[in-house]
Amino acid sequence: MSIARVNGPLPGPKGTELIKQWHKYEADVTGFQAPVVWDHAHGCVVTDVDGNVFIDWTSGVLVTNVGHCHPHLVKKTQEASAILLNNYECANVQRVEAAKRLVGVLPPHLDKCFFLSTGSEATEGAARLMKRYTGNYELVCTMGAFHGRTATSAAMGGLSGPKKKYGPALPGMIRVPFPNPYRDPEGWCEGAPEFKKYFDHLELLIDANSTGSLAGVIVEPYQGAGGFIFPPKGWLKKLEQWAHGNGLLFTLDEVQSSYGRTGKMWALEHEDLKPDIVTIGKAIGCGVPVSAIAATSEVFSCLEKGELSSTLGGNPVASAAVCAVLDIYEKEGLVQKSAEMGAYMLAHLEKLAARSKHIGCVRGMGLVMGIEFVLDKTTKEPAPDLTKKVIVDAANQGLLVGKVGWLGNVIRVAPPLVITKEEADESLSIMENVILALEA
Ligand SMILES: Cc1ncc(COP(=O)(O)O)c(C=O)c1O
Repeated sequence: MSIARVNGPLPGPKGTELIKQWHKYEADVTGFQAPVVWDHAHGCVVTDVDGNVFIDWTSGVLVTNVGHCHPHLVKKTQEASAILLNNYECANVQRVEAAKRLVGVLPPHLDKCFFLSTGSEATEGAARLMKRYTGNYELVCTMGAFHGRTATSAAMGGLSGPKKKYGPALPGMIRVPFPNPYRDPEGWCEGAPEFKKYFDHLELLIDANSTGSLAGVIVEPYQGAGGFIFPPKGWLKKLEQWAHGNGLLFTLDEVQSSYGRTGKMWALEHEDLKPDIVTIGKAIGCGVPVSAIAATSEVFSCLEKGELSSTLGGNPVASAAVCAVLDIYEKEGLVQKSAEMGAYMLAHLEKLAARSKHIGCVRGMGLVMGIEFVLDKTTKEPAPDLTKKVIVDAANQGLLVGKVGWLGNVIRVAPPLVITKEEADESLSIMENVILALEA
């Protein structure tokens, strides 16, 4: 018997009414999603208000790595909230334990962390650290990057969405290309491990734009919102070396790439990176709002008391979630599962790509994969309208997916790391039906 079950076109009657109410009272400013009103979810399976059942390839935008409503996470956060819901800037038992546990799973050179609430806050905090530590104010960031929607995080980003019609972005951001192996007309991906052509160009951009006040570099291990773009092997290491060689701090934005998503606990492990700062969000709380900055004690020592704080950062419930999530990782071997199931799903998707005239590229690591849609495989002309159709058609057959990409043409494959083989097979077969129907 199949897992997914959709009874009629979406949204169903209750869903239709709720979406109407939603847009009446809350501004309709979120991105394009399937018209599904979520009611409850467990593991990798979501049920909507009309009783339709879906397999989830979104993880609520790469958040619920341990599965939706994992019983241990629910129990621990319920227990914590019954005792103490909030305190501000004071220690609480859960916060102390969460800090100890998080530092315990970080690479050994990152010996301190600080808790905040959102990924944007973490990247803003990282910018502050880079500037305060060096006394300089310029940051090197990448085109197509996404670091959040607050002023500094949006300015560090290289996508127009968060900045559009918002006046001048924060000065001091020097944006350099992020090498994209599928679209590489300039040859930035060539010449590993030196990538001479790329780094010569980067130097040109720095010369042309810097006032001589470089503080740091911020980069995602793979570009998430930019389109699940994985740089060529060795480029991140070289970028880190370039940063350190020039006296800059190197920040790796692991808000979405950490906690096993790429088949390693931290994406930095793939290239043995040693960033000075790592930003963490999303799966650190698996649905409970919490984020963190990890850095060396030395880097944190540049801040004076009161310089980094947040109303809800380190609150007891969020902190209990940090600990509960790590308990689950220890018990369930999720990082290994991500590597294995990711390889299995990627192999299937690659076969599908070979059969479809609209899939230009399938790429990924662990359980984060992108399917890039094009109108023509030779010209690689992007097909953003096809991705919208895929989202709706997949939902109507019981599979939830989202889209990303600076060209709007990449479907995200990012299920909770607990996805079973049965769920993987059924969801792959739905995606196959949807994609092959586009050819008709
Ligand atoms: C790499 C990266 N950094 C930062 C953020 C911002 O996180 P938040 O939406 O929690 O502010 C995101 C969110 O998608 C992200 O993917």
